[in-house]
Amino acid sequence: KNVTAFAPATVANVSCGFDILGFAVEEMGDKVTVSLSDTPGVRVVRIEGDGGRLPYETDKNTCSVALKAFAEHIGFEGGLEIELFKGLPLGSGMGSSAASSVAALEAANVLLGNPLEKKDLLPFAMKAEGVACGAEHADNVAPSLLGGFVLIRSYHPLDVTKLHVPKGLYCTLVHPHFELNTADSRSVLRQQVSLKDAIIQSGNIAGLVAGLFQEDMGLISRSLQDVIAEPSRSVLIPGFDEVKNAVKDIGALGVGISGSGPTTFILSPAQDVAYAAKEACLKVFEKIGLDVDIYVSAV
Ligand code: HSE
Repeated sequence: KNVTAFAPATVANVSCGFDILGFAVEEMGDKVTVSLSDTPGVRVVRIEGDGGRLPYETDKNTCSVALKAFAEHIGFEGGLEIELFKGLPLGSGMGSSAASSVAALEAANVLLGNPLEKKDLLPFAMKAEGVACGAEHADNVAPSLLGGFVLIRSYHPLDVTKLHVPKGLYCTLVHPHFELNTADSRSVLRQQVSLKDAIIQSGNIAGLVAGLFQEDMGLISRSLQDVIAEPSRSVLIPGFDEVKNAVKDIGALGVGISGSGPTTFILSPAQDVAYAAKEACLKVFEKIGLDVDIYVSAV
């Protein structure tokens, strides 16, 4: 008996919401098949699409870390075998490790007769994020699991809520062909934030959330600013400033780093603007001479 589940890519942070905001990009993601086995324990038996780079060890692979914690929690003592089919590039900032653990959890939960509600799978996926990058952040795993825009109001205790998504919101993801490891991208962050920056950032988070609920594209656009992580991280991302510049006059709502990068996201109020952003970015990277993949998706 086996079950296969798909979990989508995600854009974490969404500029102002460092570690507390994220949205799902439904078109792309990872697939995981979980099967019952007669041998007790959780094992990764197959990984495809990773170029042979992801670990099979139960305590290192995000799928098995998540499933081991889940199995312990529900008291399942049988065997589970995991087959992972990567659709997402590693180290891209599109929530690749999160999509794997979320798909594994969803598949295992269905396989074992839905002992938990979907939202209650979150802590196990967060544990896997801790193993993947050293920080148990939820801004990739929560939207990958729940879909749409998700806010993590608090980590202790965990308090997660879905936000309204206005119709017509589109996202362009610009993925340059190089990897940025989340742990490295976190290590460049300042550990102190000034009062001035805290005020700017809180205004923007509140503005973004209000803008989503009011479907106020202008307010969303004004709120897509990050004075905490982006200044330290953007220097690690070739083409970031050029992309910002290139989409300034085409009607996009804003530009930011997707998760910890190097993917850049551009939020647009309509599909044609998202495609215009794609064209503008293709020109930017042609000029820089760096290979990119550019995806357009509804949010
Ligand atoms: N919020 C996390 C970070 C997301 O920016 O480090 C990692 O993808």
